[in-house]
Amino acid sequence: MAVQRLVLTDFRCYASLRLNIDAPMIALTGANGAGKTNLLEAISLLVPGRGLRSARLTDLARREHGNPNLGQGWAVAATINGIEGHCEVGTGISEDPGTDNPRRSVRINGATATGQSALGERLSALWITPDMQRLFTEGASGRRRFLDRLVFGFDPAHAGRLKAFEKAMRERSRLLQTEVTQGTSADPAWLNVLEETIVEKGVAIAAARIGLIDRLNPACAMGVGPFPSASLALDGVLDGWLSNMPALEAEDRYKAALQESRIEDRAARSAAIGPHRSDLAVTHILKDAPASQCSTGEQKALLISIVLANARLQSLERGACPILLLDEIAAHLDEDRRSALFAEIQALGAQAWMTGTDASLFAPISAHVQHFTVADAVVTESSPDAFAA
Ligand SMILES: Nc1ncnc2c1ncn2[C@@H]1O[C@H](COP(=O)(O)OP(=O)(O)OP(=O)(O)O)[C@@H](O)[C@H]1O
Ligand SMILES: [Mg+2]
Repeated sequence: MAVQRLVLTDFRCYASLRLNIDAPMIALTGANGAGKTNLLEAISLLVPGRGLRSARLTDLARREHGNPNLGQGWAVAATINGIEGHCEVGTGISEDPGTDNPRRSVRINGATATGQSALGERLSALWITPDMQRLFTEGASGRRRFLDRLVFGFDPAHAGRLKAFEKAMRERSRLLQTEVTQGTSADPAWLNVLEETIVEKGVAIAAARIGLIDRLNPACAMGVGPFPSASLALDGVLDGWLSNMPALEAEDRYKAALQESRIEDRAARSAAIGPHRSDLAVTHILKDAPASQCSTGEQKALLISIVLANARLQSLERGACPILLLDEIAAHLDEDRRSALFAEIQALGAQAWMTGTDASLFAPISAHVQHFTVADAVVTESSPDAFAA
């Protein structure tokens, strides 16, 4: 899979940008604040989800100092070579979204698509950003999001499932609150309908995650050169039920648990059980240690290992390797690991977009890289000699 042409309009710091890509590896180099990560973020919005910064849609629109009249609209369009061959994809929000909570529109070959899964059917992307340095030590929500992104690449419908689950959870919570605010009891028939949706989507989410982990573990167990072998497991009540009993029984149990916990859930404004409570546990196999107890460098290597294993599995199962967005990855690796990463990207045949403040980091692969310098939101293609500088 590859982006062959990228066009940004009023996206973050870019009023308008056009790039034509003709190499498998792309290096974007420039000073802090130049616009490198914004460019990767634009590409990350060509797949389902909220992109590599999990930003709000309205934050993505270009702001200009001293010009508060800029609109809220932005667009990212691309010509891609995707899973179904060449096509034009686009996403964005309109100038006047007319609501505080706009939805991003998706266009495929000029026609409006109904949801983001249309993007996932054509393209997939994986990313590693400096923020993910804390993935294994911070809260479980980041790890769930990471795992769900790994699932998107195989199962484009997963994004829709998550949305439907979250919507039903919000509505249930709101309904339970009306008992407090209005003193009337929540309509039990409506609560039942919502809980049925929660159970159906929740079990499907957990099953998709478990299915991916089962298939990914053999690939993760191999490791790649200096990137260690890893083992993944899903930790959660619902996940345990699904692994230990038939799916129908797990569904019944989940349904009963929701019914029984309405009073506690009303106070907590959530639910004690469900896929929103699961955690991804990662183990460094050789050290037999949880990722959270590994050194910073080891955690980074584990993360790269998992992402590369996922890319390899997608290549096998879908016949195409996802696009890799590697923000500032080269700077944080020693020379051995850096060249192993470059070699693995080449072996995978992946299109990899890499950023760095220092162009010389990419010198060893200058013959395979299309190099752009980024300065104050202006992107200029430079000759391979620029790496030597
Ligand atoms: N909505 C927006 N409108 C205009 N500018 C924005 C918007 N959002 C972010 N920016 C600005 O875009 C600039 C570039 O940000 P970006 O994160 O892409 O930089 P970078 O090149 O990755 O820098 P670093 O090397 O520090 O990571 C920043 O100065 C940031 O403040
Ligand atoms: Mg950056």
